[in-house]
Amino acid sequence: MYNAKIKGLGFYVPENVVTNDDLAAIMDTNDAWIQERTGIQERRHVVKGSGETTTTMGVKAAERAIDRAKIDKDEVDFVIFATLSPDYYFPGPGVLVQRDLGLKTVGALDVRNQCSGFVYALSVADQYVKSGMYSNVLVIGSELHSHGLDMTTRGRGVSVIFGDGAGAAIVGREEDPGKGILSTHLHSEGQHAEELSLIAPGMGKRWVTDILKDADPEDESYFPYMNGQFVFKNAVVRFSEVIMEGLGQNGLKASDIDLLVPHQANLRISQFIQKKFGLKDHQVYNNIMRYGNTTAASIPIALTEAWESGRVKSGDLVVLAAFGSGFTWGSAIIRW
Ligand code: UT7
Repeated sequence: MYNAKIKGLGFYVPENVVTNDDLAAIMDTNDAWIQERTGIQERRHVVKGSGETTTTMGVKAAERAIDRAKIDKDEVDFVIFATLSPDYYFPGPGVLVQRDLGLKTVGALDVRNQCSGFVYALSVADQYVKSGMYSNVLVIGSELHSHGLDMTTRGRGVSVIFGDGAGAAIVGREEDPGKGILSTHLHSEGQHAEELSLIAPGMGKRWVTDILKDADPEDESYFPYMNGQFVFKNAVVRFSEVIMEGLGQNGLKASDIDLLVPHQANLRISQFIQKKFGLKDHQVYNNIMRYGNTTAASIPIALTEAWESGRVKSGDLVVLAAFGSGFTWGSAIIRW
């Protein structure tokens, strides 16, 4: 048995910045409401017709992670891709990354766990590396939300929150038994599956608004639905539980955390967790203000930014935690 660690990180977001005022120009919302309820100031949206997709963004993030891991792409021996917004209904984007990055015919797995997708994918990568089966697993979280959001007042409770982007990590072998991914913890409660969901399929190359030209315009099942307050109440409980579970399993306390990187669902959720665990501002990394909620991409984008800005140092205890649609939630406890 080996330990696994994150050897390299990268992220990519589209250039196009969409501010709260931009949204207020096309629907009945306003900057004050969005900032007060969510902390979000702006997010990135892929420009229609630009050719950018969940896969192309994932590939860009992956190239940076491979560079930083100081490996050749031919050394990647498995791909795991987490997303809720795949380019095609099938096949999933894992194989598209294998093709577009020009990887050898390595295995490619798709993870469908929405906001906790990256933590689930990291957990799978951890097991493969620990067992010795693979040495360099490419883990990607990428989302193209803007294609599928209801950008009218009807959809404002959801559409102001989500943004596009991708993050990636290379998970490889750690020689020091006291370092690397110490444990991961995964949970689900399918009883609440419909509380945050997209019922009708229909991603692919067409925008949802184009699909709706041939369908019933009143059919909301083509757009994501979220019972916001119910999700919020569950999120704060499950985030706390799964962080406690991870710390407890490793004989650690909240005060041992050097950096908590929570899934960027809502700044108010992060602040609640920070207060509950008595963490200082420098112990929690948030960037939802700039990117909105990028679902499976949010943790790898935030972790990459934290690492790039020197907030993650060798020996630090880094905790990742996520909660979202499914419901699914999870945490990872990492000694960097
Ligand atoms: O990443 C996956 C996990 N996701 C989460 O954890 C998200 C959890 N939930 C939340 O973050 C919050 O519930 C939201 C930010 C989504 C919504 O905040 P809220 O405080 O729960 O607002 P609400 O849905 O209860 O809506 C309050 C009011 C309503 O108006 P009335 O009925 O009080 O007149 C909404 O119609 O705000 C209205 N509203 C808006 N107003 C302006 C909803 N969306 C908007 C909007 N702009 N964008």
